[in-house]
Amino acid sequence: MPQINDNYLKLKAGYLFPEIARRVNAFADANPDAKVIKLGIGDVTEPLPEAIRVAMTKAIHDMGQRETFHGYGPEQGYEWLRKKIATFDFQARDCDIDADEIFVSDGSKCDTGNILDILDSGNVIAVGDPVYPVYVDTNVMAGHTGPADNAGRYDGLVYLPMTAENDFTPALPDGQVDVIYLCYPNNPTGAVASRQALQQWVDYANSHGALILFDAAYEAYITDPDIPHSIYEIEGARDCAIEFRSFSKSAGFTGTRCAYTVVPRSLTGKAGDGRAVELHALWSRRQSTKFNGVSYIVQRGAEAAYSTEGRKQISGLVSFYLENAALIRKALTDSGAQVYGGVNAPYVWVKTPSGLNSWEFFDKLLHEAHVVGTPGSGFGAAGEGYFRISAFNSRENVEEAMERVAGQLVM
Ligand code: MLT
Repeated sequence: MPQINDNYLKLKAGYLFPEIARRVNAFADANPDAKVIKLGIGDVTEPLPEAIRVAMTKAIHDMGQRETFHGYGPEQGYEWLRKKIATFDFQARDCDIDADEIFVSDGSKCDTGNILDILDSGNVIAVGDPVYPVYVDTNVMAGHTGPADNAGRYDGLVYLPMTAENDFTPALPDGQVDVIYLCYPNNPTGAVASRQALQQWVDYANSHGALILFDAAYEAYITDPDIPHSIYEIEGARDCAIEFRSFSKSAGFTGTRCAYTVVPRSLTGKAGDGRAVELHALWSRRQSTKFNGVSYIVQRGAEAAYSTEGRKQISGLVSFYLENAALIRKALTDSGAQVYGGVNAPYVWVKTPSGLNSWEFFDKLLHEAHVVGTPGSGFGAAGEGYFRISAFNSRENVEEAMERVAGQLVM
């Protein structure tokens, strides 16, 4: 018998979203006539924008002819896509990022986990609480933590509470941490980080030799013109931050799969012998060895996201989901709930009513309103007593879900 990776045995229960799906399926099996509306996992529902479909159709045609057929592409992504990303997502915002600092991938979830391949297990890691569970679970799997306590906090991780009391803006760590995960607009709370808050993080990282892993998967949802879209809008970030971006929630690519990670060439880490080593070179080496790139067809689709038509259509998609978020906010606020997020983010974060804990509220909503959300405690101990509602669904479903929630629940 082979020896297993015992770290997997430290993981608490199942991954959050499959666990929710399990409970919902059990409910649906027992109640086959119930029309369950899912506002749980942040999965897009609206069709791919036309400009993207047209480009992908053309790419399929390319693949059907010897002259334009594509085999293996560059592991880091095609140059034409990396250049568009650098121009539109960074240089247009005065961020000093070059195309060759961009690594196209099949998802930010994978990249935020895979990045641990190039980091030592001795680093002190800080995460928000609540937090996107992938950051924590991948560190557990990699053996960077001890066991979890009863509240689900893993020994060895530094948790930075994000609560209504601190406006969901975590304080800087008291002592030294080496790796800091930041996610803005935030999943799950929907909070955003001001320029000043991000500057404090960058200054902390540069003065402590720490690395920021900045997850900006929801940046397209920023409506406030003063909120930075990229960590590289902050002075000094090229020396301390890696940024993760995704086409999933902007261009509707959750099923199509395309994302990218930015690793500036100026970013270094320390080798065992004390030498400074470029993280760009390590990530490039990692990707070339373990990854064969995103398909040509999908990258052509992602490229079309930057065309004039593509940008217009994506902006329409994002506005659609933000209008859903506004409807959710209003319905919950009118029911007397304490509501956060949902303005610069597709997630609404709500305080659970009448002293119910997060899973109790999940069950109540599922059983009484047939509406699925995500229990805040699934994102960490500080998420207990909160509940996340996703704006990703059709207008009809969101309206119906909110009628049911408002009509059946005393908040
Ligand atoms: C979520 O619901 O938090 C997201 O869908 C998770 C993800 O993007 O992987």
